[in-house]
Amino acid sequence: MDPADRVAAAFAAQPRRRFLPPDVRGSAAWDAPLAIGYGQTNSQPHTVGDMLVLLDVAPGMRVLDVGAGSGWTSALLGELTGPDGWVLALEIVPELAAFGAANVEAAGVPCVRLVRAGQGALGAPDEAPFDRILVSAMASELPLSLVAQLAPGGVMVAPVAGTMLRVVRGFPPRDAPGEARVTEHGSYQFVPLVGG
Ligand SMILES: C[S@@+](CC[C@H](N)C(=O)[O-])C[C@H]1O[C@@H](n2cnc3c(N)ncnc32)[C@H](O)[C@@H]1O
Repeated sequence: MDPADRVAAAFAAQPRRRFLPPDVRGSAAWDAPLAIGYGQTNSQPHTVGDMLVLLDVAPGMRVLDVGAGSGWTSALLGELTGPDGWVLALEIVPELAAFGAANVEAAGVPCVRLVRAGQGALGAPDEAPFDRILVSAMASELPLSLVAQLAPGGVMVAPVAGTMLRVVRGFPPRDAPGEARVTEHGSYQFVPLVGG
């Protein structure tokens, strides 16, 4: 299956509606961001699809989801890794971390662990390396501390200063985070990445 077909299958397995607060559930079919409280949003489906196709997650991979919010992207990533892989999903707003974790549990994706993001560092350096990193909030510049959490050859998809970036970390000996290969994939708007 090509990446777009695998992403479409994940969308079918994890309907957006299940991850929304009751007051916006009726709008689940809209291709627009929807409020999930605390000034945050469940991202626009078209954008999520574009990001997941760029990320190209394969079964068995180790994935970091930064900005888990409602838990929808976390559950989609769990569908893509399957039970042989795992997803560590981080959300910085404590109430949303609880909301997202409950949604993921109800969605029945045991390979996903959604927890509150640590206050000290961006991402989860203690649990690195990751094969894939998805960032669902806008950084002002490329977060090299997240690039450093990628395995050699690993891929990060992140909105940075209004542009969607796909970042591929190099292999040794040219594997310093700053040596990553970066390509641009269009203009997008996101809530800000705290610490980014
Ligand atoms: C667009 S929203 C949620 C998108 C989410 N993936 C979904 O499917 O609902 C981005 C989220 O990133 C969170 N966030 C911002 N900075 C963060 C950080 N440094 N670590 C973890 N989460 C962060 C925000 O609180 C917000 O909930």
